[in-house]
Amino acid sequence: MADAADGETMTAIGFHDHGNPLDQLDVLDVPEPEVGRGDVLVDVKATALNHLDVFTVRELDHYVSEYPFWTGGDVAGVVAETGAGVTDWEVGDRVLVNPVLTCGECEYCRQGQEQLCPDLRTIGEHRRGGLAEYLSVPGTNLFSIPDDVDFTTASAVPIAGSTAWGALSSRAEVRPYEDVLIVGATGGVGTYAVQIAKNVFNVDTLIATTSTEEKADFLRDLGVDHVIDYTETEFDREVWELTDERGVDVCYNCVGGETWTKSMRSMAQGGRLVTSGATAGPNPETELRLVFIRGLDVLGSSVDRYQGFHELLEYVWDGTITPVVDDTFDLLDYEEAFRRVLDREMYGNVVLTQD
Ligand SMILES: NC(=O)c1ccc[n+]([C@@H]2O[C@H](COP(=O)([O-])OP(=O)(O)OC[C@H]3O[C@@H](n4cnc5c(N)ncnc54)[C@H](OP(=O)(O)O)[C@@H]3O)[C@@H](O)[C@H]2O)c1
Ligand SMILES: [Zn+2]
Repeated sequence: MADAADGETMTAIGFHDHGNPLDQLDVLDVPEPEVGRGDVLVDVKATALNHLDVFTVRELDHYVSEYPFWTGGDVAGVVAETGAGVTDWEVGDRVLVNPVLTCGECEYCRQGQEQLCPDLRTIGEHRRGGLAEYLSVPGTNLFSIPDDVDFTTASAVPIAGSTAWGALSSRAEVRPYEDVLIVGATGGVGTYAVQIAKNVFNVDTLIATTSTEEKADFLRDLGVDHVIDYTETEFDREVWELTDERGVDVCYNCVGGETWTKSMRSMAQGGRLVTSGATAGPNPETELRLVFIRGLDVLGSSVDRYQGFHELLEYVWDGTITPVVDDTFDLLDYEEAFRRVLDREMYGNVVLTQD
């Protein structure tokens, strides 16, 4: 094992141009990444896919720094090499990558609000990621994986888990006596949101929307009290009935599109509507009268602060939260993995693995 300076190459699942991942992605032979001062080279064992990977390949051309590019922000693997100045990690350590890079110096970073850093960059979105044999990252972005947690499970934690944790814990500050609605609950973010609301904050009533009976059964097993199939009924009306015409205290909506106004209509007086995504469209209609008459707080939340990442990991490692792995595929079978995400077939995260 050596770095790019030695001319070694590796396999990556990359692209030269943006569009449908099934058209753009290819198996590439590329130079191994360089290992700079403070960096650690990770021999990638598992990379979880998120909708973010789809968005990046499809349309985030203003984020991508270089071509060919490969995504993959959710990475677990083994330390293969350490750069100069790295003392915390040794070759062979089992590690998980926090994909968020911040400047460490701005007013937000200094206050522990790193998620607001204007220079925030994400591995796999702005910088080449882990859909490859090796990934070079700052050693400070690594966490140890406990012996009883496998690489696949660990890889499904960072992006989906910290996004849901940031939204429900850091931003919405969910409380045990509250009623919570999760719109779009079967994906990576949604399955964390369900468990955070139920297993960590013990919310009173947890309601979630989904699109099939099979997904509804899955969500009930995961801990949702009431599942609404929005293809059969208007979910805002059903929330209204389920809450005795009071509405929910918190709604977490990462779907956007036509679910946005319905989510507003589902809110109680003074409720908090929190978003971290817009899978079905970023420019939905809105209803300002509901915002001011009901006194709603509309909260935006992206990745979480570093402290939040630590908090989340504790709950995962002690079993309070179980990462939901939909299916695993060999890295070279990436097309089938992306297809499951594109077709909305997955429960939790699909994971690409390597020997
Ligand atoms: N800001 C951040 O830092 C950040 C980080 C991670 C994720 N995100 C965003 O959060 C969202 C969720 O991401 P994810 O990776 O968990 O997976 P996802 O593929 O976006 O999950 C989709 C969920 O939304 C539901 N859905 C409803 N309408 C949909 C539509 N028209 N198209 C697709 N899905 C629809 C699906 O469930 P049903 O079929 O059951 O309705 C599914 O449960 C994405 O928009 C993602 O970009 C943001
Ligand atoms: Zn900063």
